[in-house]
Amino acid sequence: MKIDTVAIIGSGAMGSGIAQVCAMAGFTTLLFDKNAAAVERSRKSLNDIFSMLESKNKITATERSNYLDKLSWNESLSAISGVQLVIEAIVENAEIKREIFSEIEAIVDATCIICSNTSSLSITGLAATCTEPGRFAGLHFFNPAPLMKLVEIIPALQTDPAVIETLKVFVQQLGKTGVIARDSPGFIVNRLARSYYSESLRIYEEHQATTEQIDQIMKDKGGFKMGPFELMDLIGHDINFSVTNSVFTSFFFDPRYKPSHSQKQLVEAGWLGRKAGRGFYRYPRPADAGPVEYNQELGEQVFDRIISMLVNEAVDAVYLGVCSESDADLAMQLGANYPKGLIAWGREIGFARIQANILRLREAYHEDRYRPSKGLEELNDKL
Ligand SMILES: NC(=O)c1ccc[n+]([C@@H]2O[C@H](COP(=O)([O-])OP(=O)(O)OC[C@H]3O[C@@H](n4cnc5c(N)ncnc54)[C@H](O)[C@@H]3O)[C@@H](O)[C@H]2O)c1
Repeated sequence: MKIDTVAIIGSGAMGSGIAQVCAMAGFTTLLFDKNAAAVERSRKSLNDIFSMLESKNKITATERSNYLDKLSWNESLSAISGVQLVIEAIVENAEIKREIFSEIEAIVDATCIICSNTSSLSITGLAATCTEPGRFAGLHFFNPAPLMKLVEIIPALQTDPAVIETLKVFVQQLGKTGVIARDSPGFIVNRLARSYYSESLRIYEEHQATTEQIDQIMKDKGGFKMGPFELMDLIGHDINFSVTNSVFTSFFFDPRYKPSHSQKQLVEAGWLGRKAGRGFYRYPRPADAGPVEYNQELGEQVFDRIISMLVNEAVDAVYLGVCSESDADLAMQLGANYPKGLIAWGREIGFARIQANILRLREAYHEDRYRPSKGLEELNDKL
């Protein structure tokens, strides 16, 4: 099916960003939001962004006007009747999403594809609220959508395979890289990234290393652009804690995804990170803090523990059919800016060593949290 007209429902941070990407890729793009102020904010913000890109010579004046011609902002949902694809990016609430899907289905053609940009809700559950669930799928963009290259394409149990083929082509036309994720908690990126935060929080809570040391170790030894605590402060603890909670709950309280009390307390205190002026660190951070010291042994212990949990999670996701090895790696590099894909990293370190590290943690803690994936053995045999 050929797509040339797209509707974006919800013109907030994600909806506006996705609309920008669609318009710049040449799609006629209709934005709808039930809140008139949000519509105006989005119109102003996209006008400002295109003017800024023109003033920096990133786009020409003709391109700017072409992109704006492709966009329209609507306060009435009936405007979307002729579109071939709808991308919903409204508030993260299943009941409110269900209501809008039934309104959308009453307006669009029978062949129109409907997608949700949800980060945490079950795509199969959302599809089940539609009259025609076969046309429904997840299309998960990352924030900020114009800059982040990755889009997770998530078939619901009910999705017609032809819909997924159309979405793969659409994502490519947007200039993005699509990966296929099985409908499961956190999809790929939000699931695989959990250990970066949760294992670091455990090490910090056990007083084995300071936040500064853990951040420095992961940057020095792993080549991560940001340490886990710097990154959580940037994302915001309200958001990061809520994603962890949602993944933990959706996995029926598997201890591997258990949230942290220290992060919960930051949320309670309103120390949400950079945006609040305080999280694990105070902002602005002093520029002359000097180098963070740690000894070789601590550096290795911390890095081995965090990277082993990350690789174990990625291997388990592949083992359980959440994604392919190559999509697991692409997703973490493009959706979370990891310096390497986790499967490739595991191959480099050795899957047997990852397994031994996890078994050592299991022996030390006697917790089900530390379970080597069965997939580690399989990948090790293939080496
Ligand atoms: N922010 C992120 O980092 C991020 C990343 C990926 C996916 N998502 C997902 O994208 C969706 C939107 O997130 P956001 O951060 O853009 O939220 P946002 O709060 O910035 O925007 C949501 C918009 O939806 C509008 N809205 C609410 N109910 C509506 C309705 N019934 N009909 C029409 N419009 C309605 C609101 O007025 C608001 O403008 C959520 O499902 C979220 O999980 C967010």
